[in-house]
Amino acid sequence: MIRTIATKPIEGQKPGTSGLRKKVPVFQAEHYVENFVQSIFDALEGFQGKTLVIGGDGRYYNRETIQKVIKIAAANGFGRILVGKGGVVSTPAVSNLIRQNGAFGGIVLSASHNPGGPHGDFGIKYNAGNGGPAPEKITDAIYARTKTINEFRIADAPDVDLETIGTSKVLDCTIEVIDAVKDYQALMEKLFDFDKIRALFASGFKMKFDAMSAVTGPYAHQILEGALGAEAGTVLNGTPLPDFGGHHPDPNLVHAKHIYDLAMGANAPDFCAASDGDGDRNLIIGRGLFVTPSDSVALLAANAHLAPGYANGIAGIARSMPTSAAADRVAAKMGINSYETPTGWKFFGNLLDAGLATICGEESAGTGSNHVREKDGLWAVLLWLNILAVRKQSVADIVREHWATYGRNYYSRHDYEEVESEGANALVQHLRDSLVSLKGKSFGALTVADADDFAYHDPVDGSDSAHQGIRILFTDGSRIVYRLSGTGTAGATLRVYIERYEGDAAKHDLETQGALSDLIALADELAQIKAYTKRDAPTVIT
Ligand code: G1P
Ligand code: ZN
Repeated sequence: MIRTIATKPIEGQKPGTSGLRKKVPVFQAEHYVENFVQSIFDALEGFQGKTLVIGGDGRYYNRETIQKVIKIAAANGFGRILVGKGGVVSTPAVSNLIRQNGAFGGIVLSASHNPGGPHGDFGIKYNAGNGGPAPEKITDAIYARTKTINEFRIADAPDVDLETIGTSKVLDCTIEVIDAVKDYQALMEKLFDFDKIRALFASGFKMKFDAMSAVTGPYAHQILEGALGAEAGTVLNGTPLPDFGGHHPDPNLVHAKHIYDLAMGANAPDFCAASDGDGDRNLIIGRGLFVTPSDSVALLAANAHLAPGYANGIAGIARSMPTSAAADRVAAKMGINSYETPTGWKFFGNLLDAGLATICGEESAGTGSNHVREKDGLWAVLLWLNILAVRKQSVADIVREHWATYGRNYYSRHDYEEVESEGANALVQHLRDSLVSLKGKSFGALTVADADDFAYHDPVDGSDSAHQGIRILFTDGSRIVYRLSGTGTAGATLRVYIERYEGDAAKHDLETQGALSDLIALADELAQIKAYTKRDAPTVIT
């Protein structure tokens, strides 16, 4: 039976670039989930009888929400629902399931790398039929509907058993509980040379992969230790926990410091990696050398042809604006197009759909390709392994060779987390007001070539996105970029991105913060960061 329940709009259900993200207690409020999910379906057309994929990163409130989504989707007329066993599916695997099954779309329950648990974060995101995050047109329509919604429809049915693989019915809708790893593994086997990677491990190659008690545990166990024969114990923290063991499942140098320490230590494995809460981010560290995500996307693009899935070459490379220009240099040398998009994976979707780009990446440890429409943590790890298996060199040697060929883009991001919104907004406004006067000005050896508030014109759908971050570009190729995070759930987070290009190979082994010190000081001077944020130092440096 379908029940139609009267409801009232709830304020603030505005999906950001990564869906609707709030603290768990906010989602637990009466009708909060129901209103938002019904608003998603009200904003869509033509899904009657079609397939919906549902998956989450396993965080606290995942199961409860999945039961609600199933019952609301069935009551709204979906014909088939695919849901991963236990409700746990990585974000890239959801994207793959949508594409492989010709689904109408999918619902991803995740707050990515944010902490979980009863007081942690939760999120709901809608992905469209191409497997990627919904375009702004749809998220705007969802938000508009949340402001007028007056009823939702829900099946009056018992909960679906998510633990047992099999098929059941809710109303006329078929619910299939599936093994979420199987299809993803099959896709990886198509893209990468598993025989060569198996041979690499058999030759004594050692790696550690930290799943951070999050969604990639089962995938990594099955693919790395199972299919590829990496020794038992290769996967660390491989059991997904609702609170990620109390940790912050963000694979950066702060929250995955233990794996960094391991890679820098005396008995370091050949290769260390990690992924985040929902499995779309990656951290790559070779023995004794951390590979910045900006360098990693450039390197993966330059070497992708070594993997069977990309043997015919790549069409283009896309990077988000704050990501370093290292990838642009690879594209230039390969004679293919490079694209600079606003932050957030959804902008890559159009380029991938149109076949303009094959490899995409963000400085925030998101890398991916046209195999799905999300960034993909394990994919990046496997492509690295494929490259290492073919080139038979260490990570450090491959990175140094890359710098020798293309030059090195020294790069660092400084985050000022959870500062007061008022001060953060004033800082950005002050920068906007000073853009014109900055052009041509010199600060020591640095001269401003251009300064702007980044705007993007999408070459595929013609849409325009303004105010995507302040860019200060110097004549020597250095850059300072400022933007406010769009994914935080408390106060504002200021991100400052600092980059310097060094063509001289004799200067490729400097310590990063030292190599950037004049730009770091200038970044503070120009934006008066300390004054506006009332902070003496960043909370996270990556
Ligand atoms: C952050 C990252 C961005 C990424 C997003 C979702 O967004 O900076 O690159 O796409 O998370 O994972 P931000 O908080 O900066 O808006
Ligand atoms: Zn994520």
